[in-house]
Amino acid sequence: MTTLTARTVAHANIALAKYWGKHDSARNLTAVPSLSLTLDRLRTETDILFDAGLAQDEASIDDEPLYGRPLERVVALIDQLRAMAGVTLCARVTSTNSFPTASGLASSASGFAALVLAGSKALGLSLSLPELSALARGASASAARSLFGGFVALEAGAEAAVPVAPRDHWDVVMLVAVVTRATKGVASTEGMGHTARTSPYYRAWVDSAPEVFQEVRRAVQERNLEVLGEAMEHSALLMHACMLASRPSLFYLTPSTLVVLDAVRSLRNAGVSAYFTMDAGPHVKVLTLPVHAEQVAHTLEVLPGVVEVLSCRPGPAAHEASADTQP
Ligand code: DP6
Repeated sequence: MTTLTARTVAHANIALAKYWGKHDSARNLTAVPSLSLTLDRLRTETDILFDAGLAQDEASIDDEPLYGRPLERVVALIDQLRAMAGVTLCARVTSTNSFPTASGLASSASGFAALVLAGSKALGLSLSLPELSALARGASASAARSLFGGFVALEAGAEAAVPVAPRDHWDVVMLVAVVTRATKGVASTEGMGHTARTSPYYRAWVDSAPEVFQEVRRAVQERNLEVLGEAMEHSALLMHACMLASRPSLFYLTPSTLVVLDAVRSLRNAGVSAYFTMDAGPHVKVLTLPVHAEQVAHTLEVLPGVVEVLSCRPGPAAHEASADTQP
């Protein structure tokens, strides 16, 4: 009986300059450029098995089987790989996340990056990194960035992400203040469509994002945390302002989110370099330097509503895992 397998690892990334909105929905090309940091601590491990004994495609994340739209997105990506390889076998995908799934912690980014690499390896396709990144982008644009380690850009309308600087370029710490374990209300894809259709600020967001992206990229290249932090916060707040102005309003922030933002500002007033960003969920990610990481983490841990603080460093590119690797 024919069996093809692979096991891969990919790491989530957090955008320092945000992507929100599609230039082309059918091809999932982005309306604005984005720049992210791949994180070591946020890790997805994926096993894929193509087997003649399977009657249909199956997928699970953290032992929860996928159904409906989430399963369709996985199958659509596997279909592309099967077509390229000329294979018709059904697949079983088993993924494990080292962090809360689908709560605005970029699980689709690491998930689709791990999946595209696993599927292509199992099917014996030798695809380049840009080809893998482009396939991942079609499934979820932020996933295009998770094929690469360190600092990564995805230009507006681009097929594939490109590395900006390797993980050892700059030893920064990203502290993820987890404020709930619940899954998020509105998935990014739906949220973006809703924002583009109904927010009067959408045009202003698309027009202003490229300049903020340039500032973020320059600050990363120059390792300037003050300049990066200011631009990063501006990017996140521009994006959330645009979401908030949609109708009905798209509101990902909770009281706990605001408590964390306030604490970050207080830290800064006390001379600690720490800057926040938020995605399509209530968690706050705080960027700082190793020298301040312990103090910032202790401050965040005791805030009301914060359930956990995950300490992350720049992470590696997606890669194959050896059979004995534990999640
Ligand atoms: C707020 O990549 O999840 O995290 O392409 O529709 O799957 P789709 O969206 P997705 O959006 C991520 C949005 C964000 C910002 C970012 O990561 O750049």
